[in-house]
Amino acid sequence: MKRPNCFGKKGSEYFSDMKTKVFHVNPVEPDPSTLQSVGRILREGGLVAFPTETVYGLGASALDAKACQNVYRAKGRPSDNPLIVHVSSPDQIYQYACSDSTGLLNKLMQNFMPGPLTVVLKKNEVIPDSVTGGLQTVAIRCPAHPVARKLIEAAGVPVAAPSANLSGSPSPTKAEHVLQDLNGRIDCILCGGEASIGVESTIISLDESGVHLLRPGFVTLEELEEVCGKVYVDKAVLQKLSSDEKPLAPGMKYRHYAPKANTVMVTGADENVRRFLASALQDNVSIICFEEDIDFFPDHFRHRIHILGSKHDPLSQARNLFSILRNADEKDTKTIYTRQPPTEGVGLAVYNRLIKACGFQIIQTDS
Ligand code: TXA
Ligand code: MG
Repeated sequence: MKRPNCFGKKGSEYFSDMKTKVFHVNPVEPDPSTLQSVGRILREGGLVAFPTETVYGLGASALDAKACQNVYRAKGRPSDNPLIVHVSSPDQIYQYACSDSTGLLNKLMQNFMPGPLTVVLKKNEVIPDSVTGGLQTVAIRCPAHPVARKLIEAAGVPVAAPSANLSGSPSPTKAEHVLQDLNGRIDCILCGGEASIGVESTIISLDESGVHLLRPGFVTLEELEEVCGKVYVDKAVLQKLSSDEKPLAPGMKYRHYAPKANTVMVTGADENVRRFLASALQDNVSIICFEEDIDFFPDHFRHRIHILGSKHDPLSQARNLFSILRNADEKDTKTIYTRQPPTEGVGLAVYNRLIKACGFQIIQTDS
């Protein structure tokens, strides 16, 4: 499927005649002939959304500069926000990036790959500039999801893939989220069940200055430090940057996951936060809280309460987070108040996505 060169046309003209094909596969044992058909769409320059263990990705051949430019167009993504290259086995990383100067890459591969870890390394000349937003580095990961790996294998090319959402909306953990955002804007969606992790991969960079955590995820800071020693956490993970500061991952400067409603994090002792939330609750307010909080709210507002999971279960919180952000942001919602998740382990990833959704607005209820 060779697509016409549509650059220079307005977005609406570009997408006007596009029909998105929908394929379904078993998430554990995907049908090989479906993977061959969809892999061919990728190889020939088309855009395909596919499941990974973290979130759904929007893939294009990472060797095809035009296809990668179409990814930015389909998502409405700024061209300075580079894409992650996905490979079907960890050793393929060396085909697209230079060996790291820290000597830690092999150890990281043994411990965490395939899986939800992305590494940023110096790129080699095979990777076009449109993948890396002009940077001399490339972010690479080998997903663990059988559909993702077998699809990349069937395509026979590395696959550049950001999350398969419109720029600015929460990442998609279900095929229906992808259709909500991208139906009619991409060639194909391969449906393969719900993402089991629910937040995007952990991103680290490896260079002379050491190991830096650019984005927290399922592979935790604590686990990385066990393997690599000291890991420096980029300021953008936890704090709002001033206009003259730059995050190490360009995407972290955008207010991702921004609900339309004003979203605010409420912190403090359980009883103080619950008192605040119960008094704030009204028809145009949504609350994101823990399972343990539910009895503190009146039954008739039950539909305005969105439960992230148990306070002590960051894995459930991660899995539910993006669906909840989509649901809490209903048409009539003016304000969303969310509890602050604990920041240990995978909790750091949940906190990072939520505090960004809040634009770093916090109400402290302990006086
Ligand atoms: O789990 C994931 O990582 C998902 C699935 C589909 O694999 N992908 C994903 O991609 O979350 P995306 O595009 O939504 O986020 C990629 C992040 C962005 O913040 C981007 O700026 C950063 O990775 N990134 C990409 N290339 C980079 C590079 N060379 N240096 C620093 N950051 C980079
Ligand atoms: Mg994204």
